[in-house]
Amino acid sequence: MLVAFANRPVKSPNLELADLIGPLSYALDLTEGQPKDHCIRCCYIGMALGRALGLPEAELADLFYTLLLKDLGCSSNAARICELFLADDIDFKQGFKTIDPGFNAALSFVFKRTGLKAGLSERIRALVKICREGERTTQDMISTRCHRGADIAAKLRFSSAVQEGIRSLDEHWNGKGQPFGLTGNDIPRASSIALLAQVVDVFHSEGGPGGVATELHKRRGSWFDPQLVDAFDALNASEGFWEMLASPDMPDWLLDTAPSIAGLPVDEEYLDDVAQAFSDVVDAKSPFTADHSNRVTLYADMISEELGLADNHRRWIRRAALLHDIGKLAVSNQVLDKPGKLDENEWKAVRLHPLISENILKRVPAFADMAQVAGAHHERLDGKGYPHGLAGDDIPLEARILTVADVFDALSAERPYRAAMPIEKALAILDEDTGTAFDGECVTALKRGLERLSQVIEQPKIASNQTIAA
Ligand SMILES: [Fe+2]
Ligand SMILES: [Fe+2]
Repeated sequence: MLVAFANRPVKSPNLELADLIGPLSYALDLTEGQPKDHCIRCCYIGMALGRALGLPEAELADLFYTLLLKDLGCSSNAARICELFLADDIDFKQGFKTIDPGFNAALSFVFKRTGLKAGLSERIRALVKICREGERTTQDMISTRCHRGADIAAKLRFSSAVQEGIRSLDEHWNGKGQPFGLTGNDIPRASSIALLAQVVDVFHSEGGPGGVATELHKRRGSWFDPQLVDAFDALNASEGFWEMLASPDMPDWLLDTAPSIAGLPVDEEYLDDVAQAFSDVVDAKSPFTADHSNRVTLYADMISEELGLADNHRRWIRRAALLHDIGKLAVSNQVLDKPGKLDENEWKAVRLHPLISENILKRVPAFADMAQVAGAHHERLDGKGYPHGLAGDDIPLEARILTVADVFDALSAERPYRAAMPIEKALAILDEDTGTAFDGECVTALKRGLERLSQVIEQPKIASNQTIAA
């Protein structure tokens, strides 16, 4: 007998936009290998700069969300970084942000980090490839990241100012940035502030306030507008600036003082859009799991419908399905996309991802009640699953639904280590472990749902044949 985890409320509490987007930015910190609250700290730094410059309130509101969401597109280059540099994408990205500006430092970093775990001939092949194609591929990766981030911001219904702020994050004052090579004041101000805030936080996290000004002045007039660096110098010397940045109260204070954006209410429809947008961030990470979250959501909803769950409950499960793998943003694509068997450490990293999903969602008030369910999508009824080893009735119904949907998609979609499996074979594998790993009622509901779907797909064909025959 299945027992529903809880009855889901139709209405969400009255949530502020900042309380939703702020905590979710933690998922983006993980993709970039940055210490927790990197995006929140960048937001604090950039907003302090924006206020010091006397920007109008509407521009400050757009700046606030540009700063929080500057890394929305970053997951899209993870697989290609692994492939080109034979490196852990998360370590590579983290290290790359701390090198000196200029071509020589970038080249030296790439040579030092490429193929560290590869054999000599593989490493040489990779370096030759980088020399031949590296510049073009890197430009392509940056461009994809910028445009992808802007597109996801549009899905989140942010203004074109926020979208362009994210798109132009890597533009440099001297015109040598990406993706368009914009110069000077043609670069959106939010982008210039976000890039400067990023450099400040990265170097502050590495070595405290002491070295930050040096790093900014190295880039004054090349990466950054000299006036912006001068404005930061004044902040640098202002009382309490660094103390507040380091204070544990800062994130709450920052979100409490967020400028408001008119016409963007955090209602049920918006929460659906946010779950969808962040599932796009997750699915962009690996070509092998592209669209995985959407397909799991489709199968999970199919199962929920067959089990007769109420509409509001189904909606809640769809959101959990969209976000179940958000913890994968913290796992390197060297592991996720590995074609062979995983070693012990790699397997350990994979087993952590549901726990990371749980931890990310716990921080977001609107999604906190789905944290336990997302965190349990790799548990098994016999207690041999992970990360908690839950068994039987300790695994909520919603998590059992996600598990069946997730495994069915993993089996029926193409993976790095094998081709896609026919549906019948995937269902037969589910049958083998029904009762030990999978909930029998959920598996039966999936089969009924797939059957109904195939009938729906068949019917228009019959109808159109009849029309042609007539
Ligand atoms: Fe998973
Ligand atoms: Fe999954």
